[in-house]
Amino acid sequence: MSTHREVKVLFSEAEIAARVEAIADAIQKADLHNLLVVAVLKGSFMFAADLLRALHRKGMQPQVEFVHLSSYLEGTVSQGHITILKDIESDVSGRDVLLVDDILESGRTLAFAKDLLVARGAHRVLIGVMLEKPGKRAVQVNADFVGFKSPDVFVVGYGMDVAHNYRELPFIGVVS
Ligand code: IMP
Ligand code: MG
Repeated sequence: MSTHREVKVLFSEAEIAARVEAIADAIQKADLHNLLVVAVLKGSFMFAADLLRALHRKGMQPQVEFVHLSSYLEGTVSQGHITILKDIESDVSGRDVLLVDDILESGRTLAFAKDLLVARGAHRVLIGVMLEKPGKRAVQVNADFVGFKSPDVFVVGYGMDVAHNYRELPFIGVVS
């Protein structure tokens, strides 16, 4: 269990669970129709899984798809260029879409994804992220649902990695 000792907890499992429930409440009140949740791989997988189950508990029946976008080479420096590694399979025209990601940082990833879905005719495209890092935005894009404002440190866990490590942690932490 050495990995746990190296990672300082920033947001605990219980804190995350409470935010996921609150976000699901807000989504349920957003009056979305024929909702398609699009999780942005890989970092969002744990948040998306928890959020979808919370949406189910609120009585919602969203469909789910995955898009894999890459803006990072291995490591922590944003390349500023987005490529589609795996696209969704559904037609989004006329549908309400909720994009789910782990972190909104420069905004390039989610701006790219939102523009793509809007260009394909989506009716509304909303964005939900677990973390928002303020002061790092390179393009104009806003999250409609945010778990926590993150300090400007590199975080891991709850799906987020550094060089493929720590995604499995049930909490969000900082590698010391
Ligand atoms: P951006 O908003 O396009 O700059 O990129 C956000 C993406 O960068 C997120 O979806 C993460 O995959 C990754 N990312 C940004 N900051 C962190 C971090 O602190 N830890 C892990 N991944 C991060
Ligand atoms: Mg990501």
